[in-house]
Amino acid sequence: MNEVYDALNAFLEDGSVMGMGSGSTIEGYIPYMKEHVDRYNLDVAFVPTSEKTEAHLKRHGLNVVHHAERMPVTIDGADRFNEALMVIKGGGGSLLREKQVGYFSDQIVIAAHQDKRVENFSGIVIPVEINTYLYGMTVRTIERDFEAQTEMRTGADGLFITDNGNHIVDCRFNDPKDMDHLQNGLLAIPGVVETGIFNRKVSHIFSFDDQGAYQKYE
Ligand code: A5P
Repeated sequence: MNEVYDALNAFLEDGSVMGMGSGSTIEGYIPYMKEHVDRYNLDVAFVPTSEKTEAHLKRHGLNVVHHAERMPVTIDGADRFNEALMVIKGGGGSLLREKQVGYFSDQIVIAAHQDKRVENFSGIVIPVEINTYLYGMTVRTIERDFEAQTEMRTGADGLFITDNGNHIVDCRFNDPKDMDHLQNGLLAIPGVVETGIFNRKVSHIFSFDDQGAYQKYE
């Protein structure tokens, strides 16, 4: 995986605060990044996109902060992407904090396995984070207004609870051509907290193979 990890390391900026994403790709990258930080004695701190990532960063002795005047970049994984830099996230349930940290960054850089590339998002799972209060009515509204097939995400103890105390409903839409329209429409439903549609700020996608060789979309 060195090739794609080296490409991600090139975005580390000495003296900066960076956003650090969630998921197995990022968890695999963090120890490699730590070696790079130590080798070049970089002064960097990280705003984590999940409690799991926060624990992982701390375990590797990296600085974690929850405020930054500026974040030049957030590095993150993805569940699905296309060549036009449209990304779907939230498979791990961290989409809200990923959205927040990405929003406050100048750019979002994504590393995702090449198998996650899609031509369109028809029938693809798009996670949506919803408030727990009246969640059943929120879900029915998504089904009715967007002709969605939905499934409430579950965890070990029943319905999945995010780091923010919300639920996730995994949605499939028949032919969501206009992702901006879908995003705005979903957010207009009270009870929808955020969606896994990342339609802003993604500047680079490193699509890697099993050996870590990559193709870059930008
Ligand atoms: C977390 O909610 C997700 O958005 C992850 O970033 C995404 O699911 C990628 O995870 P993997 O790297 O584990 O595939």
